[in-house]
Amino acid sequence: MQTLLALNWKMNKTPTEARSWAEELTTKYAPAEGVDLAVLAPALDLSALAANLPAGIAFGGQDVSAHESGAYTGEISAAMLKDAGASCVVVGHSERREYHDESDADVAAKARQAQANGLLPIVCVGENLDVRERGEHVPQTLAQLRGSLEGVGADVVVAYEPVWAIGTGKTATADDAEELAAAIRGALREQYGARAEGIRVLYGGSVKPENIAEICGKPNVNGALVGGASLKVPDVLGMLDALR
Ligand code: PGA
Repeated sequence: MQTLLALNWKMNKTPTEARSWAEELTTKYAPAEGVDLAVLAPALDLSALAANLPAGIAFGGQDVSAHESGAYTGEISAAMLKDAGASCVVVGHSERREYHDESDADVAAKARQAQANGLLPIVCVGENLDVRERGEHVPQTLAQLRGSLEGVGADVVVAYEPVWAIGTGKTATADDAEELAAAIRGALREQYGARAEGIRVLYGGSVKPENIAEICGKPNVNGALVGGASLKVPDVLGMLDALR
């Protein structure tokens, strides 16, 4: 299966900055065999990415409405993302869960809406520090996963992101990532049977050029969701090189 390097810009880069980033990438980018690259950008940046990214690089949104269309001021529909050229969308990022009170049921509804419009949902799960310290990270994350995949088809990516490792510089060890990725694979088998083997499970949380190869070298880790190190083109190229 192809490794997925998914770049989560979060609320960074204006459309002008997105265009410069894409132009810089175009001058230096050489595809890494076996690696898919996807840029997950603010919705306003998507047309700059559509026009300026090198061929073969996917892009998508960071959130999507659970509704098809209508009176939901401020929301972005899956059909809008699709029409802008997106092929994927992040749902249930811990920052959405925390600051926008998204529940597992909300996340599942968004993932279903994405799939209904031909977008690949990247469903995020992961525990807080207190849960990890109590040693409950495996059952808690699997419960979150089951709730977030309710009624969701197998055409999905799962990102395990322990909240305590996001933007903190504290990376989970590669073995920590594998522990959860293997547990997630088991839960995916229960839900999807043999199709679970084709579902990519990513790790996210302080991934950078120096640690990506070890993390993505684990048998159940099929890529990374990267925040901070996604913003500068040299870091992205460094991660691609590390995966070669
Ligand atoms: P980080 O963010 O790489 O800056 O830790 C990861 C994420 O939140 O997806």
